[in-house]
Amino acid sequence: MKENEWKNAVVYQIYPKSFNDTNGDGIGDLPGIIDKLDYLKDLGIDIIWLSPFFPSPMADNGYDISDYQGIEPSFGTMEDMDRLLEEADRRDIRIVIDLVLNHTSDEHDWFKESSASLDNPKRDWYIWRSGDENGEPPNNWRSNFGGSAWEWDERTNQYYLHVFDKKQPDLNWENKEMRQAVYQMIHWWMEKAVAGFRVDAITYIKKNKEFPSFEADGSDGMVTIDKGSLNQPGIKKHLQELKEKGFRHDEVFTVAEAPGVPADEIEDYIGEHGFFTMLFEFDHVDLDLTASAKWYEMKEWTVHDFKKPLFDSQRRLQEGWSALYIENHDQPRSLSRFIQEGFRHTHSAKMLAAVYFLMKGTPYIYQGQEIGMTNVEYPDISSYNDAVSRHQYDYALANGCSEEEALAFIWKRSRDNTRTPMQWDASHQGGFTEGSPWLETNSNYPEVNVETVKAAPDSLYTFYQKLIAFRKHAKAAPIIEKGAFQALLEEDDHIVAYKRTYEDQEITLYANFTAERVPVSFDEESRQAIVSNNDGLGPESAWMEPYDFVIFSNVDYEW
Ligand code: GLC
Ligand code: CA
Repeated sequence: MKENEWKNAVVYQIYPKSFNDTNGDGIGDLPGIIDKLDYLKDLGIDIIWLSPFFPSPMADNGYDISDYQGIEPSFGTMEDMDRLLEEADRRDIRIVIDLVLNHTSDEHDWFKESSASLDNPKRDWYIWRSGDENGEPPNNWRSNFGGSAWEWDERTNQYYLHVFDKKQPDLNWENKEMRQAVYQMIHWWMEKAVAGFRVDAITYIKKNKEFPSFEADGSDGMVTIDKGSLNQPGIKKHLQELKEKGFRHDEVFTVAEAPGVPADEIEDYIGEHGFFTMLFEFDHVDLDLTASAKWYEMKEWTVHDFKKPLFDSQRRLQEGWSALYIENHDQPRSLSRFIQEGFRHTHSAKMLAAVYFLMKGTPYIYQGQEIGMTNVEYPDISSYNDAVSRHQYDYALANGCSEEEALAFIWKRSRDNTRTPMQWDASHQGGFTEGSPWLETNSNYPEVNVETVKAAPDSLYTFYQKLIAFRKHAKAAPIIEKGAFQALLEEDDHIVAYKRTYEDQEITLYANFTAERVPVSFDEESRQAIVSNNDGLGPESAWMEPYDFVIFSNVDYEW
């Protein structure tokens, strides 16, 4: 993909398990994606990011891969994949796949060999250590999915390291042969004509070689593994090699999931000589988490917590480029997350869309976001599939929360909030499956579904279509692509506002990010409002109603 191609693109993320089931087994599949390509074309997107579809025991819904070069049987076959690539290409849609390089499944052949004996040639492909003098884990690192990051393996009487689930052993990036095998796998997919890669959890691949214990940050005596495994010194050598030997060409599109990159190092990661095309940053979505990321300690957030990291990132970018998003398969639904109860309607959903779409970067839409899907509230923890949710629930109970309290945090934060089946129409299970879905459908599907939303006047779906068309239009595209970014009303406690300027043209956005009616004074006398979610808003307006937004511009554009 050439630079001008991804800069003008909009990406749509598909979580295959929950997108569309064609054979009634309750699990989304590749033929189901093919069936919806026309829908995606109609929406106006250019690139599909496919979450993992490789063979997997599904301990982490596909992020635990047991064969990098195959297809999970419940999702389909390699022929289905080839057909998907072909059919997408026919519609001028590119496919970007997920590369999970920090770990494999414990059921991957590599790990089976590695764990077989101390002298197996692949022993060193993973991270093995003996216990301490009492036979306890080598250090006090807590895995991201809860409990010790070390799992005892009695075949060889050693522990292996896992940053995530115990079924996701970490690959040892210090091993050259392992790296070589990973690069070959990447080349294989490139030959299959995938257009690029979303690179999973990549800032975890380098570990602190001493594997020291650190001061505990929880009642379990453990410490977040980020301390010894996130963005550690020396990681850049690996990333540079991944770029040169793995991706090889500059034209491979790569978007890295890269928590923990310090602001002043972003330049090394992206931009002309960076390791990746663009990065997902986290601060604007993790605004309700404390450093230890325990959900039961969730904190209140303000408009500043949302806008400051985004604005800082936009300013920092200068020549770089960003991955813009408000939802994905790890985050709650944006409507439920950012909008107060009672206001979660098309009106506020349009504001959320407008707020991030005009920044410098490539916007991502997560499946269902375009129709305003919301969080789910299962009445019991047993309905949850997400490993993190189950761990966070136990953790909350162990730290004194009642079951009701613990569940309330799961409702807010669970990754299952965005993993419920896609809602296509008002029929059985929202049209996702003819059978019973692997994860309960959100009960609001009779109202919130593609068919119903599309048929409504001024729908959210249509708004996304128009936003996409606007970004790409010859009049707006240069401003979005090259325009300088200037934050407006930065100190304001309610309004998110910014201006993009290119030559003598500009686009300005004002959004009331709160449920309050607030006074405002637009500095836009000579400009016209090209679109808003409140027809009464114009350059002279003195108030914004809850969740209003307006876009001003001096380009002559017919919305
Ligand atoms: C990334 C994925 C997440 C997964 C984790 C481990 O954060 O987005 O879904 O659980 O990596 O692979
Ligand atoms: Ca299926």
